[in-house]
Amino acid sequence: MTVYESIETRKSIRDFEKRPVEPEKLQRILEAGRLAPTARCSNATRFIVVDDPDLMKKVQEACMGQALMGKAPMAVIVCSDSTRVMGCDQRASTVDCSIAMSFMMLAATAEGLGTCWIGGFTQEPLKEALGIPAEYDVVALTPLGYPAEEGRPRDRKPLEELVYKNGWKR
Ligand SMILES: Cc1cc2nc3c(=O)[nH]c(=O)nc-3n(C[C@H](O)[C@H](O)[C@H](O)COP(=O)(O)O)c2cc1C
Repeated sequence: MTVYESIETRKSIRDFEKRPVEPEKLQRILEAGRLAPTARCSNATRFIVVDDPDLMKKVQEACMGQALMGKAPMAVIVCSDSTRVMGCDQRASTVDCSIAMSFMMLAATAEGLGTCWIGGFTQEPLKEALGIPAEYDVVALTPLGYPAEEGRPRDRKPLEELVYKNGWKR
């Protein structure tokens, strides 16, 4: 699968088969996250793989009980040192983790696996459940597993509405 095919076919998946993800597939997905760029090449991004059923329940609770988190066999949580702010006023952790998560989601699609970016979670209960140090922020997480649904129809504005040339709304 080309990267374009992966971008085209990826959809948020919220229902999963029970069967576990093969370790070699997980490894390749994590490798995609590892290879993602980080600001100043800090390598500060950390990936927490959760497949322990009791811990998955705690992760689901921290995700406001979202049902999809109870259906996936595992989850990948992406976090980074939150103290680094770039010259553009953006937190490096937010950007670094978002790139890594995007790379992993595309890799997961290429592996025939489903993901769903989860931003609906509460920071402190999740950090406590996973033992994440205070200076780290969880930026995003995703359930990971074989899809048991196709995902919703895509809802995107046409490119003409989104792209400006040589300035805002020009
Ligand atoms: C930053 C961010 C946070 C999101 N948080 C959640 C979430 O907490 N729960 C959920 O079910 N979907 C969540 N989503 C998935 C979006 O609803 C989904 O990406 C969007 O509807 C587009 O659908 P698609 O991913 O199938 O293209 C999130 C997506 C993003 C990018």
